[in-house]
Amino acid sequence: YSEEDNADDYLFKIVLIGDSAVGKSNLLARFARDEFYPNSKSTIGVEFQTQKMDFDGKEVKAQIWDTAGQERFRAVTSAYYRGAVGALVVYDISRRQTFESIGRWLNELHTHSDMNVVTILVGNKSDLKEAREVTTAEGKALAEAQGLFFMETSALDSSNVTAAFETVVKEIY
Ligand code: GTP
Ligand code: MG
Repeated sequence: YSEEDNADDYLFKIVLIGDSAVGKSNLLARFARDEFYPNSKSTIGVEFQTQKMDFDGKEVKAQIWDTAGQERFRAVTSAYYRGAVGALVVYDISRRQTFESIGRWLNELHTHSDMNVVTILVGNKSDLKEAREVTTAEGKALAEAQGLFFMETSALDSSNVTAAFETVVKEIY
């Protein structure tokens, strides 16, 4: 599913999901505005940001949706997923519990959106080397088993942030 804006413009809805404090909002801030917030607060409700991207001279617009990981702050689930063609499912490599939640997030994604939604598993906070609790191999293995793209990112030092979003948009486009 893609919405045609005009002849050369495409708008793709992409959702960010994952436990609270894994860094969803900071990944979006880094990608869309090249900003990072060391002390960001939990998202309340839903926010989104439209980002223009260029592929082979064609303009593509990614509309990236961000909501809270915590149930009590979340947007209406079905509305959040409606029309999504891409998803970044995020965990924090320094908190194993957030990796163990991935199955639950994938279930919710598949309950509320098309099975064909292009999905990347993202292990964020790769800068926290000393505190790592989930190995790269474990992330890769889960992604392979579930048929997902995979990348480790850091919203703090920018590594792979653009690449993660681009992987999804390229595959949709
Ligand atoms: P909710 O909105 O509650 O679901 O959380 P979130 O997933 O949007 O997390 P958020 O982006 O607010 O980040 C939570 C905390 O982690 C903040 O203190 C960020 O500064 C920090 N953080 C985010 N990304 C990174 C990263 O790549 N590295 C490090 N070291 N810290 C990060
Ligand atoms: Mg947030």
